[in-house]
Amino acid sequence: MNILSLVSNILDFAFLIWCIVLFYLSLKKCFLNGKKGKVGLLLVTLFTNPLVVYIVSLYAALIPMIAVLIVFGLDKYVYNVSELLSIIQIITAGVIYMLLTFLFSRLVGKWLKVPNRSLVTFVYLMFGVFFSVSIRGYSNETLESSLPTFIFSIANTTVLFIASWFLYHFVIKALSGLTNQKRAVNAKIFLIPPAIFNLTYISLAFTNLKLSFESRTIVYIFSTIITFLFIWAFYVIIKNINATNEEIKAKNQIKTLSVEVMEALAHTIDAKDKYTNGHSVRVAKYSRMIAEKMGLDAETCENIYYMGLLHDIGKIGVPNEIINKPSRLTDEEYDVIKTHPGIGFDILSQINSRPDLAKGARWHHERYDGKGYPEGIAGEKIPMEARIIAVADSYDAMTSNRSYRHYLPQETVRAEIEKNEGTQFDPEIAKYMIMIIDEDKDYILHE
Ligand SMILES: [Fe+2]
Repeated sequence: MNILSLVSNILDFAFLIWCIVLFYLSLKKCFLNGKKGKVGLLLVTLFTNPLVVYIVSLYAALIPMIAVLIVFGLDKYVYNVSELLSIIQIITAGVIYMLLTFLFSRLVGKWLKVPNRSLVTFVYLMFGVFFSVSIRGYSNETLESSLPTFIFSIANTTVLFIASWFLYHFVIKALSGLTNQKRAVNAKIFLIPPAIFNLTYISLAFTNLKLSFESRTIVYIFSTIITFLFIWAFYVIIKNINATNEEIKAKNQIKTLSVEVMEALAHTIDAKDKYTNGHSVRVAKYSRMIAEKMGLDAETCENIYYMGLLHDIGKIGVPNEIINKPSRLTDEEYDVIKTHPGIGFDILSQINSRPDLAKGARWHHERYDGKGYPEGIAGEKIPMEARIIAVADSYDAMTSNRSYRHYLPQETVRAEIEKNEGTQFDPEIAKYMIMIIDEDKDYILHE
C-alpha cells in the first residue's frame, strides 16, 4: 500500500465518521424533544445508521446467493454464473437495505415518540444516499494508487463532504421546523426520491466495478450534480411546507381569537342579567345542535353557533333596572325590552367580515305565525338561522332557573315546544328540537 492510497482511504473513513456524526445531530435536532437521553440516541445512531444497514444488507445478501449455489448445485460452475450471482446480490441487498431502513426508522421514531414517522424515514434515506455513495468509492479503490486516482479520490471525498454539509445545513434545518408542527401535506411524498436514489447507488456499487476510469468520472460528476439538485429540491419543498404551516397557524390563531372575543362578549351580555347566567352560550350550543341535527354543513353550523352567542347583544342598550326587574314589567318597560333586537342588529352590522351575524340578533323574537317582534314577519321570511335560535332561546328559558322557579321538568318543556309548533316555532325545526330532547334521556340539557 503506498502513501497516496493510505491518505485517500483515511479521508474516506473520515467522511464516514462525519456522516454518522451528522446523522446523530440530525436526529437530535429534528426529533429529540422529550426526556430521551442523548447517550441513548447516540447508541441508536451507531447501531441503526444507514452505513451499518448498508453493510448488513450486503452481507445478508450473500446468504441467498450461497443458497442458490447449493440448491441448484451451481458451485461447480461458479465462475460462469458470477454475473447471475452479482445480479441476485444487487437485488437482494437493495430489498434488505430498504426493509431495514424502514424498520429502523419506524422503531427509532416510535422510541423518540415522533408524531410523523415518515420524516424519520426520510432522514434515514437521505443519509443512506451519502453512505452508499461513499461506500462505492471504497469498493472501487485498489490498494495500489496512482496519482490520477489519488486526485480523483480526494476530489470525490471533498465533494461528498460539501454535499453532506449542504444536506445538513439546508434540508435538516428546514426539516427541524417542520417536525415540530402538524404537517400540512403527507410527508410520505418525501420518501419516494431518496428511496429510488438509494437503490440506484446500491446497484452502481456493483456495476461500477467494470467501468473504466473515464466512464466512472462521468458517472461520478453526473451523480454529484443530481445529488446537489436533489438537496436543493428538498430544501425548497420543506421550506414551502413550513411557510404553509405558518400560514395555517396564523389563520387558526385569528380564528381562535375571534371565537374567544365572541364568547367573552356573550359572557358580558349574560353578566348584565342576573337571572340568565350563561344563557347566550347555552343558546349558541343548542342552536348548533339543532343545525347539526338538520344536517346543515359544518360551516353553517359554526355560523349559527356564533349567531347564538351574540343574539342578545342588544340588551347592552336596555337599562339594568328593566332587565333585572323582579316584578311584572309595565307595557312601557316591555317596549324598551323589545328594542334589543334592533340595537343588536345595529351593533353586529358593524362587523363587515361576518355580515350574517346580525341576522340572529334581529329576528330571534319573530314568531312563525307573524305575531313576534320587532317586524312581525312570518314563516320562511324569517331567516332560518333566526328560526333555529328562537327555538333554542325558548328551550333555554324553560330549562333555566328563575328567581321565582326551578327549571321546568323535561316533559313540560317537550309538551310546550310541541304545543307551539307552527305558531311560535317553525314546525320542522321544533321537530328536530324534540328529537334532541328525546335523545337526552338523563335530562342533561338544562342550566
Ligand atoms: Fe332576546
